[in-house]
Amino acid sequence: MARPRSLLAVIVTTALALVTWPGTTLPAAAAAPTPPMGFNDWNAFGCDVDDQVIRETADAMVVNGMAAAGYRYVNIDDCWSVPERDTAGRLTPDPRKFPYGMKALADYVHARGLKLGIYGDAGTKTCAGYPGSLGHERVDAQTWAQWGIDYLKYDNCYNRTDGSRADYLRRYTRMAAALRTTGRPILYSICEWGESQPWTWAPGVGQLWRTTGDITDTWVSVKSIIARNLPLAKFAGPGRWNDPDMLEVGNGGMTETEYRTHMSMWAMMAAPLIAGADLRTLSPSALSILTNRDLIAIDQDPLGEPAVATGNVLVKPLADGDRAIALYNSGDTPARLTAPINRPAAPAYRLHDVWTGTDVTVTTSITVTVPPHGTAVYRVHPLPF
Ligand code: GLA
Repeated sequence: MARPRSLLAVIVTTALALVTWPGTTLPAAAAAPTPPMGFNDWNAFGCDVDDQVIRETADAMVVNGMAAAGYRYVNIDDCWSVPERDTAGRLTPDPRKFPYGMKALADYVHARGLKLGIYGDAGTKTCAGYPGSLGHERVDAQTWAQWGIDYLKYDNCYNRTDGSRADYLRRYTRMAAALRTTGRPILYSICEWGESQPWTWAPGVGQLWRTTGDITDTWVSVKSIIARNLPLAKFAGPGRWNDPDMLEVGNGGMTETEYRTHMSMWAMMAAPLIAGADLRTLSPSALSILTNRDLIAIDQDPLGEPAVATGNVLVKPLADGDRAIALYNSGDTPARLTAPINRPAAPAYRLHDVWTGTDVTVTTSITVTVPPHGTAVYRVHPLPF
């Protein structure tokens, strides 16, 4: 039974709810000490999202081991609402797609130990033309909080911007404040495609921000996103993550080698791991890539430092003193790649290959032949003197 609230508690809560400016006494923002993990329907379903897909995805995540591996959020993307606000100015889920409403869906997802995400837009319309939240931030945040939403991806279409950094900051901060005012911890995923260099202003506003345009299920896309996201390493850390977009692993447009590189590089970059395939029909190969425990541990390492790249070699320091080292072959022919292994100082190092599960001991470096579009990843453990 709910504890009756004192009059003072009601007054304090109401007063807090009236304050909308960040930095004042607002409830704490949602926290993402490690990069968020979960699912989003957009890459596999586009606008064909519905209640059944979301429920079956939540079930699949529990049954196929993804929930146990750390995947937590089940996120609804664009196209969930009806084209107009209701008479009270609120967003309404499309009753043909979500016949039981969002609260019931959130209850279903929560009952499986998972969390529910939704999508909105810092403009007059979403990218697919549904109502946007610009000027409706308070009511929309309240609506989502009442439904039990835990994660908001906030897009940038129809934004009426003058292109200034101040405009981006204003639009995205308004929703951040509205989310906080609800008192419900709702993770805030800023999606403006890297247009206003969000890594310079989004830390503290949201917990993650897209750094690039939309990913597609092709090697060309993955390679170009890696090239753009890697140099941004220094802007990310616990609670503030570069988001190079959702995973395409399992969608069929790339080879197994390319999907392994996709997962390897996202983990090395400490990227959010938001699976974007149909998890109900995932192949064993895609599932094993998405649930690679060693890579997930590298991605989720509590130190939260993304890898720094020197040429084809990436190094990510880890909280226990180990390092993750990746040798990335972005080229179209096999490459013989070498990484120095010399820190922290030690007589030798044990290298655990995250893809083969085998261990080797080296003293100064590792040299491997990496197939085209492939990536070798090792967890490097210094051995005692
Ligand atoms: C934008 C976003 C995508 C997706 C679509 C939905 O393109 O960047 O990730 O949310 O909108 O319309």
